[in-house]
Amino acid sequence: RVKTAILISGRGSNMVALLEAARAPGFPAEIALVLANKADAGGLALAAAAGVPTAVVESRPFGRDRAAHEAAVQAVLEAHGIRLVCLAGYMRLLTPFLVGRWAGRMLNIHPSLLPAFPGLDTHARALAAGVRLHGCTVHWVTEEMDAGPILAQAAVPVLPGDTEAALAARVLAQEHRIYPEALRVAAGGAAAHPDHSAALTNPLPSPPALS
Ligand code: GAR
Repeated sequence: RVKTAILISGRGSNMVALLEAARAPGFPAEIALVLANKADAGGLALAAAAGVPTAVVESRPFGRDRAAHEAAVQAVLEAHGIRLVCLAGYMRLLTPFLVGRWAGRMLNIHPSLLPAFPGLDTHARALAAGVRLHGCTVHWVTEEMDAGPILAQAAVPVLPGDTEAALAARVLAQEHRIYPEALRVAAGGAAAHPDHSAALTNPLPSPPALS
Protein backbone atom coordinates (compact mmCIF):
# COMPACT_ATOMS: atom_id res chain seq x y z
CA ARG A 1 0.00 0.00 0.00
CA VAL A 2 1.18 3.48 -0.80
CA LYS A 3 2.49 5.21 2.30
CA THR A 4 0.51 8.42 2.49
CA ALA A 5 0.73 11.51 4.68
CA ILE A 6 -2.14 13.90 5.35
CA LEU A 7 -1.21 17.53 5.99
CA ILE A 8 -3.66 19.58 8.04
CA SER A 9 -3.98 22.95 9.74
CA GLY A 10 -7.29 22.59 11.55
CA ARG A 11 -10.18 20.36 12.53
CA GLY A 12 -9.35 17.55 10.12
CA SER A 13 -12.76 16.31 9.01
CA ASN A 14 -11.42 15.41 5.57
CA MET A 15 -8.52 13.70 7.28
CA VAL A 16 -10.99 11.58 9.26
CA ALA A 17 -12.80 10.66 6.05
CA LEU A 18 -9.51 9.55 4.51
CA LEU A 19 -8.50 7.59 7.62
CA GLU A 20 -11.84 5.77 7.66
CA ALA A 21 -11.66 4.92 3.98
CA ALA A 22 -8.10 3.67 4.29
CA ARG A 23 -9.16 1.13 6.90
CA ALA A 24 -11.14 -0.80 4.30
CA PRO A 25 -9.54 -4.04 3.13
CA GLY A 26 -7.80 -3.61 -0.18
CA PHE A 27 -7.61 0.19 0.02
CA PRO A 28 -4.43 1.05 -1.90
CA ALA A 29 -3.16 3.77 0.48
CA GLU A 30 -1.95 3.47 4.05
CA ILE A 31 -2.18 6.66 6.10
CA ALA A 32 1.25 6.53 7.69
CA LEU A 33 1.44 10.08 9.05
CA VAL A 34 -0.70 13.10 9.87
CA LEU A 35 1.35 16.28 9.93
CA ALA A 36 0.11 19.68 11.09
CA ASN A 37 1.69 23.10 10.79
CA LYS A 38 -0.12 24.18 13.96
CA ALA A 39 0.21 22.48 17.34
CA ASP A 40 -3.44 23.25 18.14
CA ALA A 41 -4.88 21.66 14.99
CA GLY A 42 -7.91 19.72 16.21
CA GLY A 43 -7.28 16.92 13.77
CA LEU A 44 -4.10 15.88 15.57
CA ALA A 45 -6.03 14.41 18.51
CA LEU A 46 -8.38 12.61 16.13
CA ALA A 47 -5.45 11.09 14.26
CA ALA A 48 -3.74 10.04 17.48
CA ALA A 49 -6.99 8.48 18.71
CA ALA A 50 -7.10 6.51 15.46
CA GLY A 51 -3.60 5.23 16.14
CA VAL A 52 -1.96 7.16 13.31
CA PRO A 53 1.50 8.68 13.87
CA THR A 54 1.35 12.47 14.10
CA ALA A 55 3.90 15.23 13.72
CA VAL A 56 3.84 18.98 14.18
CA VAL A 57 6.09 21.29 12.22
CA GLU A 58 5.01 24.72 13.37
CA SER A 59 5.10 27.23 10.56
CA ARG A 60 4.86 30.32 12.74
CA PRO A 61 8.50 30.30 13.97
CA PHE A 62 9.70 30.31 10.37
CA GLY A 63 7.91 33.58 9.63
CA ARG A 64 8.16 34.38 5.96
CA ASP A 65 10.78 31.75 5.28
CA ARG A 66 8.39 29.30 3.66
CA ALA A 67 11.14 27.26 2.06
CA ALA A 68 12.83 26.66 5.43
CA HIS A 69 9.54 25.49 6.93
CA GLU A 70 9.00 23.23 3.93
CA ALA A 71 12.48 21.76 4.30
CA ALA A 72 11.56 20.81 7.86
CA VAL A 73 8.28 19.28 6.64
CA GLN A 74 10.15 17.44 3.91
CA ALA A 75 12.54 15.92 6.43
CA VAL A 76 9.64 14.51 8.45
CA LEU A 77 7.94 13.12 5.33
CA GLU A 78 11.16 11.42 4.29
CA ALA A 79 11.77 10.04 7.77
CA HIS A 80 8.38 8.32 7.54
CA GLY A 81 8.99 6.95 4.05
CA ILE A 82 6.03 8.86 2.63
CA ARG A 83 5.29 8.44 -1.08
CA LEU A 84 2.02 10.37 -1.48
CA VAL A 85 0.75 13.50 0.25
CA CYS A 86 -2.84 14.62 0.74
CA LEU A 87 -3.39 18.25 1.69
CA ALA A 88 -6.60 18.41 3.73
CA GLY A 89 -7.32 21.90 4.97
CA TYR A 90 -3.60 22.67 4.98
CA MET A 91 -3.72 26.45 4.89
CA ARG A 92 -0.20 27.20 3.68
CA LEU A 93 0.80 28.38 0.24
CA LEU A 94 3.42 25.99 -1.03
CA THR A 95 6.65 27.07 -2.70
CA PRO A 96 8.31 25.32 -5.64
CA PHE A 97 10.47 23.48 -3.08
CA LEU A 98 7.70 21.15 -1.89
CA VAL A 99 5.60 21.28 -5.05
CA GLY A 100 8.54 20.22 -7.19
CA ARG A 101 9.55 17.50 -4.78
CA TRP A 102 6.02 16.05 -4.80
CA ALA A 103 4.97 16.61 -8.41
CA GLY A 104 2.52 13.87 -9.29
CA ARG A 105 2.46 12.72 -5.67
CA MET A 106 0.47 15.45 -3.93
CA LEU A 107 -3.31 15.97 -3.85
CA ASN A 108 -5.37 18.86 -2.51
CA ILE A 109 -9.05 19.31 -1.81
CA HIS A 110 -10.56 22.71 -2.47
CA PRO A 111 -14.07 23.84 -1.50
CA SER A 112 -15.27 25.08 -4.90
CA LEU A 113 -15.83 23.87 -8.41
CA LEU A 114 -12.44 24.88 -9.76
CA PRO A 115 -11.49 26.83 -11.78
CA ALA A 116 -14.21 28.93 -10.11
CA PHE A 117 -13.29 30.50 -6.78
CA PRO A 118 -9.68 29.56 -6.12
CA GLY A 119 -8.31 30.89 -2.82
CA LEU A 120 -10.16 31.65 0.40
CA ASP A 121 -13.79 32.33 1.41
CA THR A 122 -15.15 30.23 -1.42
CA HIS A 123 -18.65 29.78 0.00
CA ALA A 124 -19.21 33.49 0.67
CA ARG A 125 -17.92 34.31 -2.79
CA ALA A 126 -20.17 31.71 -4.41
CA LEU A 127 -23.19 33.20 -2.62
CA ALA A 128 -22.18 36.73 -3.60
CA ALA A 129 -21.74 35.69 -7.23
CA GLY A 130 -25.19 34.13 -7.32
CA VAL A 131 -24.03 30.83 -8.78
CA ARG A 132 -26.62 28.07 -8.71
CA LEU A 133 -24.08 25.27 -8.51
CA HIS A 134 -21.14 25.08 -6.13
CA GLY A 135 -19.04 22.18 -4.91
CA CYS A 136 -15.59 20.82 -4.32
CA THR A 137 -12.57 19.64 -6.27
CA VAL A 138 -9.70 17.24 -5.69
CA HIS A 139 -6.70 18.15 -7.83
CA TRP A 140 -3.02 17.43 -8.23
CA VAL A 141 -0.93 20.18 -6.67
CA THR A 142 1.10 22.38 -9.00
CA GLU A 143 2.93 25.64 -8.46
CA GLU A 144 -0.09 27.76 -9.30
CA MET A 145 -2.48 27.74 -6.35
CA ASP A 146 -5.68 25.67 -6.79
CA ALA A 147 -4.93 25.16 -10.48
CA GLY A 148 -3.53 21.65 -10.94
CA PRO A 149 -5.10 18.87 -13.01
CA ILE A 150 -8.49 17.88 -11.64
CA LEU A 151 -9.03 14.37 -10.31
CA ALA A 152 -12.55 14.53 -8.89
CA GLN A 153 -15.38 17.00 -8.42
CA ALA A 154 -18.82 17.05 -6.87
CA ALA A 155 -21.48 19.70 -7.39
CA VAL A 156 -24.17 20.78 -4.95
CA PRO A 157 -27.07 23.18 -5.52
CA VAL A 158 -27.06 26.64 -3.99
CA LEU A 159 -30.52 26.89 -2.43
CA PRO A 160 -32.66 29.96 -1.84
CA GLY A 161 -31.89 31.45 1.55
CA ASP A 162 -28.60 29.59 1.88
CA THR A 163 -26.20 30.87 4.49
CA GLU A 164 -22.46 30.46 4.19
CA ALA A 165 -22.59 27.81 6.93
CA ALA A 166 -25.39 25.85 5.28
CA LEU A 167 -23.64 25.88 1.93
CA ALA A 168 -20.30 24.94 3.49
CA ALA A 169 -21.90 21.96 5.23
CA ARG A 170 -23.50 20.77 1.99
CA VAL A 171 -20.15 21.00 0.21
CA LEU A 172 -18.24 19.39 3.07
CA ALA A 173 -20.40 16.26 2.92
CA GLN A 174 -19.32 15.89 -0.70
CA GLU A 175 -15.67 16.56 0.16
CA HIS A 176 -15.82 13.61 2.54
CA ARG A 177 -17.14 11.45 -0.28
CA ILE A 178 -14.85 12.45 -3.16
CA TYR A 179 -11.51 12.79 -1.37
CA PRO A 180 -11.33 9.12 -0.32
CA GLU A 181 -12.44 8.13 -3.79
CA ALA A 182 -9.77 10.31 -5.41
CA LEU A 183 -7.11 8.90 -3.09
CA ARG A 184 -8.24 5.40 -4.00
CA VAL A 185 -7.81 5.96 -7.72
CA ALA A 186 -4.56 7.90 -7.32
CA ALA A 187 -2.87 5.45 -4.96
CA GLY A 188 -4.20 2.52 -6.94
CA GLY A 189 -2.61 3.87 -10.10
CA ALA A 190 -5.92 4.33 -11.92
CA ALA A 191 -5.32 8.08 -12.27
CA ALA A 192 -2.12 10.07 -12.48
CA HIS A 193 -0.99 13.64 -12.97
CA PRO A 194 -0.88 13.95 -16.77
CA ASP A 195 2.68 15.32 -16.75
CA HIS A 196 4.02 13.02 -14.04
CA SER A 197 2.28 9.78 -14.78
CA ALA A 198 5.01 7.57 -13.35
CA ALA A 199 5.63 9.63 -10.22
CA LEU A 200 3.97 7.18 -7.87
CA THR A 201 5.56 4.07 -9.31
CA ASN A 202 9.09 5.45 -9.66
CA PRO A 203 11.49 5.19 -6.74
CA LEU A 204 11.69 8.31 -4.59
CA PRO A 205 13.95 10.95 -6.11
CA SER A 206 16.95 11.92 -4.06
CA PRO A 207 16.37 14.95 -1.83
CA PRO A 208 16.95 18.29 -3.50
CA ALA A 209 20.03 20.20 -2.47
CA LEU A 210 19.41 22.99 0.01
CA SER A 211 21.12 26.06 -1.31
C1 GAR B 1 -12.22 21.99 3.82
O1 GAR B 1 -13.45 22.53 3.43
C2 GAR B 1 -11.22 22.10 2.71
O2 GAR B 1 -11.79 21.93 1.43
C3 GAR B 1 -10.75 23.52 2.89
O3 GAR B 1 -10.63 23.70 4.26
C4 GAR B 1 -11.57 22.84 4.91
C5 GAR B 1 -10.84 22.01 5.92
O4 GAR B 1 -11.75 21.28 6.70
N1 GAR B 1 -9.50 23.76 2.23
C6 GAR B 1 -9.14 24.93 1.75
O5 GAR B 1 -9.83 25.92 1.84
C7 GAR B 1 -7.78 24.94 1.08
N2 GAR B 1 -7.48 26.25 0.59
P1 GAR B 1 -11.28 20.01 7.49
O6 GAR B 1 -10.05 20.41 8.30
O7 GAR B 1 -12.44 19.67 8.36
O8 GAR B 1 -10.97 18.94 6.48
